Amino acid sequence: MTEPKSNENVTVVDNTTGKQTTFPLLSGTAGAKVIDIRNLYKDLGYFTFDPGYTATGSCQSAITYIDGDEGILLYRGYPIEQLAEKSDFMEVCHLLLFGELPDKKQKDQFVWDITHHTMVHDQISNFFRGFRRDAHPMAVVCGVVGALSAFYHDSTDINDPWHRKVASYRLIAKMPTIAAMAYKYSVGQPFVYPSNTLDYAANFLRMCFAVPAEEYEVNPIVAKALDLIFILHADHEQNASASTVRLAGSTGANPFACIAAGCAALWGPSHGGANEEVLKMLNQIGDKNKVGDWVKKAKDPDDPFRLFGFGHRVYKNHDPRANVIRKAAHQVLNELGVNDPLLEVAIELEKIALEDEYFVKRRLYPNVDFYSGIMLKAMGFPTSMFTALFAVGRTVGWIAQWNELIEDPSQKINRPRQLYTGPTSRDYIPVDKR
Ligand code: ACO
Repeated sequence: MTEPKSNENVTVVDNTTGKQTTFPLLSGTAGAKVIDIRNLYKDLGYFTFDPGYTATGSCQSAITYIDGDEGILLYRGYPIEQLAEKSDFMEVCHLLLFGELPDKKQKDQFVWDITHHTMVHDQISNFFRGFRRDAHPMAVVCGVVGALSAFYHDSTDINDPWHRKVASYRLIAKMPTIAAMAYKYSVGQPFVYPSNTLDYAANFLRMCFAVPAEEYEVNPIVAKALDLIFILHADHEQNASASTVRLAGSTGANPFACIAAGCAALWGPSHGGANEEVLKMLNQIGDKNKVGDWVKKAKDPDDPFRLFGFGHRVYKNHDPRANVIRKAAHQVLNELGVNDPLLEVAIELEKIALEDEYFVKRRLYPNVDFYSGIMLKAMGFPTSMFTALFAVGRTVGWIAQWNELIEDPSQKINRPRQLYTGPTSRDYIPVDKR
């Protein structure tokens, strides 16, 4: 990957010293220009201060583009709406990993390769048995994904492109198996092995819901809806979990360890854990007549409560994934004949919040998590599995970001600086003198 050349500069004058220095202004193919401040400390002796990285570009990337003001999301240039309508998750995985949609032959080969990596080492089943039955599935997923590097030594050399490819395929293929095993373990049912006759989403449904005592038939409506959910969650540029994967990867850690770090970051309620929190919140509200009280609570600066599924660091217009998923949720519930009163609560909540000055002023709109939980519930997933499902869809994005990082010659260990506000140097005092 070559860095964009700069024809423009930004000049900074230090008013305290009168020193002046010039920084290159870099343009990508889309989006805001960035000031290349890599020489800032050398030239002026300062660092930047940007907690939460609200104005910091941490890397160069050609995978996913978001325009938060316009509500645009592109995977390798393709609008999410088109991929959601016309593509399928395996194609999207190929696109994110290799940069292009596959032709028929490439697609067949890719699907074959992923399908034939879905089984996990049999010893991993024993590993599961060490967890408590009531453990949260994400706790189990974080642990088991981290443990993969103990099982697949032949794909942990990050400098070998073949190792990287095999590890990438293994992670995409085994993540649904691990998530389904976490679910089966929590409900006390035997693990169901993957079936090579089924596609990615259908296979996952079977591993979650089949039992050895009877035949299981995958509902095609549910499988299609799940495939859509995976597409919508597949990547989202430098979000908290992808940045965590990159940070871990920048140290040279193996891909299984890096993706485990991504799972841990995803689990937080401000990120991928929000889908679970949305459903808990809708359940708590319970009745569409009570929505107003909860909106009031969310606006109260003295109350830590926030409307889960609302707001986004980047989207300040609308989250295009939320638009797709809202439509799909109505359709799937309709097709499945599910009449969930929580949908009514969600519609009312969205309506009131979108008209409320507090939310309008802060440009807070429903995000992807707002409707995904209602859909997943209708498909039969318990709330505790929602974030694990997000992790299954997002693994390909993490892996694409990780591969891009490893192949980027300008990559360095990610090591931010700080604004130190602690005590300055002082002498040690023996305990009897303190
Ligand atoms: N409910 C009520 N108020 C909110 C909400 C919300 N969901 N989100 C933001 N605000 C308010 C804040 O209190 C703040 O108000 P103030 O200016 O009066 O202090 C203002 O809006 C800006 O909020 P920040 O926290 O500064 O925005 P930030 O970009 O840091 O946070 C985040 C984004 C974490 C997504 C936030 O909107 C949030 O917590 N949302 C709920 C959790 C959620 O749905 N997360 C999923 C995100 S999508 C994803 O990861 C898949």
